[in-house]
Amino acid sequence: MNYEPMVFAPRTGAPEPLSAIQEEILALKKQRNAVILAHNYQIEPIQRVADFVGDSLGLSYQAQSAQADVILFCGVHFMAETAKIVNPTKTVLLPDLQAGCSLSDSCPADKLAAYKAEHPGLYVVAYINCSAGVKALSDVICTSGNARRIVERVPADREILFVPDQNLGAWVQEKTGRKMRLWPGSCYAHVLFTVRALEALKARFPAAVIVAHPECVTAVRDMADEVCSTELMVKFCKTTPASQIIVVTESGMIHRLRREVPDKTFIAGPTDTCACNDCQYMKMNTIEKVRDALLHMRPAIEVPEPVRQAAFVPIQRMLDWSRA
Ligand code: 13P
Ligand code: SF4
Repeated sequence: MNYEPMVFAPRTGAPEPLSAIQEEILALKKQRNAVILAHNYQIEPIQRVADFVGDSLGLSYQAQSAQADVILFCGVHFMAETAKIVNPTKTVLLPDLQAGCSLSDSCPADKLAAYKAEHPGLYVVAYINCSAGVKALSDVICTSGNARRIVERVPADREILFVPDQNLGAWVQEKTGRKMRLWPGSCYAHVLFTVRALEALKARFPAAVIVAHPECVTAVRDMADEVCSTELMVKFCKTTPASQIIVVTESGMIHRLRREVPDKTFIAGPTDTCACNDCQYMKMNTIEKVRDALLHMRPAIEVPEPVRQAAFVPIQRMLDWSRA
């Protein structure tokens, strides 16, 4: 290991007071009648001004039930797009329109349409990390928090095509025993975690347990004590008897964990070259861009109505199956 591990000791004392720009955001939020939804990977200053911080599944439910006129979505494009699809009368803002997702990009809608045409009859389960165009071509959506449950609900006589994450797909296949065709996509950030880096870290912290996101490769997932979505990581960290936890996902997750589980030590999951791992897209949102989005009411997400209607069906199916 040619770097020092990134270790976050138990959190003591009161949180820092909010900065002037954070106070400005809270005032603008009131003025615009906005709700701020933030993903667990957002920077800490953004998480602190959000009304809700969570994973893709929790954020989808929050977006659908939002009563405010404006949803300011602090996450990446497919997440804000999902909010617009489920709650189309609201203005949905994303602080930076360039905040995309490599996983989403790995499955363009035209390629999926061509594949479906060549292989008719497949039941398409799409991980929520995909575009509205891909959702519109899918039968049901899933997130990392409900993927097992969703796949288990697919009629047994249908062959499943799982898009776009081959790693999440492989994990679901392992857990459910359901054979699926896997689209060859992946998250550029999660595949950077390696067994070698984790073994070196474990040697330094032998008592630590490992929690990993299912977007990691199989060999890394196999080293983990628990594999789950970012929301379920909070639950795992609260309940595990271990006091040191290695968190193998995007490093923003640790802000949420430290707020909710202040008495434990968190160690960032390492790559071969770095002590932690940020998603370049998630980190495009800055506190200034959050303020500017509310100030200027842009950039706003628009989805063409026919695509929105077609994409809504598999999302709603997921939300229903997930609740039941
Ligand atoms: P979660 O749904 O677990 O929050 O994951 C979203 C994501 O983009 C992981 O990279
Ligand atoms: Fe996409 Fe990976 Fe970033 Fe998640 S961490 S938003 S899957 S690029």
